[in-house]
Amino acid sequence: MSGIYIHIPFCAKKCYYCDFFMSVSLQYKEEYLQTLKKELELRKNYLQNKPVETIYLGGGTPSLLTEKEINEIFEKIYKTYKITEKPEITTEANPDDLSNSYLKALKCTPINRLSIGIQSFFDDDLQIMNRRHTAEQSISAIKKVQDLGFSNISGDLIYGLPGMSSEKWRKNLNYFFELKIPHLSAYHLTYEPNTVFLKKLNSGKIKEIPEEESLNQFKILQKEAKKKNFIQYETSNFGEKGFFSKHNTSYWQQKHYLGIGASAHSYNGNSRQFNIKNIKEYIKRIRENSNYFEKEILSAKDKYNDYIITQLRTMWGVDINFVKKNTGEKFAEFLINKAQKHLKNGNLTEKQNVLYITEKGKFIEDFIIEDLFYL
Ligand SMILES: C[S@@+](CC[C@H](N)C(=O)[O-])C[C@H]1O[C@@H](n2cnc3c(N)ncnc32)[C@H](O)[C@@H]1O
Ligand code: SF4
Repeated sequence: MSGIYIHIPFCAKKCYYCDFFMSVSLQYKEEYLQTLKKELELRKNYLQNKPVETIYLGGGTPSLLTEKEINEIFEKIYKTYKITEKPEITTEANPDDLSNSYLKALKCTPINRLSIGIQSFFDDDLQIMNRRHTAEQSISAIKKVQDLGFSNISGDLIYGLPGMSSEKWRKNLNYFFELKIPHLSAYHLTYEPNTVFLKKLNSGKIKEIPEEESLNQFKILQKEAKKKNFIQYETSNFGEKGFFSKHNTSYWQQKHYLGIGASAHSYNGNSRQFNIKNIKEYIKRIRENSNYFEKEILSAKDKYNDYIITQLRTMWGVDINFVKKNTGEKFAEFLINKAQKHLKNGNLTEKQNVLYITEKGKFIEDFIIEDLFYL
């Protein structure tokens, strides 16, 4: 089984925290969409005819595309690749794009899952993030989405924002759960390079929240999600049973995926490919048939480190037998030795040769992952 990711690098406005590859100029949108279809054709052998069970439109803001533009991409995909009978097909969407008419149009495309960027239910947070919608618009969009029969939906929230209190974060979560959305992606704010937030932080205009407060907000997230029977299947991802994101799960489970578009990544078990991060160059190089990506052949060490970084964050844990089979005895032994001190101090636990991160370990997850790396 495999997946396809399509990158739509256009946004109406840039959020102050975001360092995803995107542009607020729509000048090359038409040409870009044509080029995506060319790349889909060029790379038809990448997945070696493996059935595709998930397709994901991400961005940027894919909800800036029209029904016709979306359907043209899917026509190409269906013509060129082997798609399973009931694929999960997700698009990311910004709440203010989700009008009744747009949602009805989406119903006429193969999309069957929506991931909605709510970020916060407080307008002052939305303003400091430079989001283009209000909390009221998010709530009304979600109700419309549900009324029109989209049941597989997810919402994104950000916590740890400057000035955010634990009480406000708890209220955000309560609003979220009241809306009966079955999947939540909740990310702690990170100050990324090339963002207004980082500039403001460096010039003292905003302040990071204290570490203790960050930790407390993460604890609140885990507690509130648990109360609602949401399973934390990955550090930032929570879902009701049957509503985990199949697409993201396949990244964590080392399934192969094809990434189409500027800046998109691909993985086929032995190498990773990174498409050029420039819209104009991407279009030009595909048109001229010149190289538009970098390729990295994965060594056993790369495969081991990739497996640790993705898998330890999930509820499925790190399987020592898989490490042995995939990367060799040497790495399995290294892992067993390195894991001992974390097992002793209760940050990891082991069941039938699988290492799991404990509730306690989750709070220092990055440190544990780094410690298990083979350098
Ligand atoms: C590709 S982006 C968003 C898709 C869509 N354009 C939107 O804004 O709703 C995916 C999600 O990553 C999260 N995100 C992006 N940058 C972040 C940052 N610096 N810190 C925390 N979360 C971030 C946001 O929750 C965002 O919705
Ligand atoms: S968060 Fe979404 S809408 Fe905002 S700039 Fe990033 S990709 Fe665009």
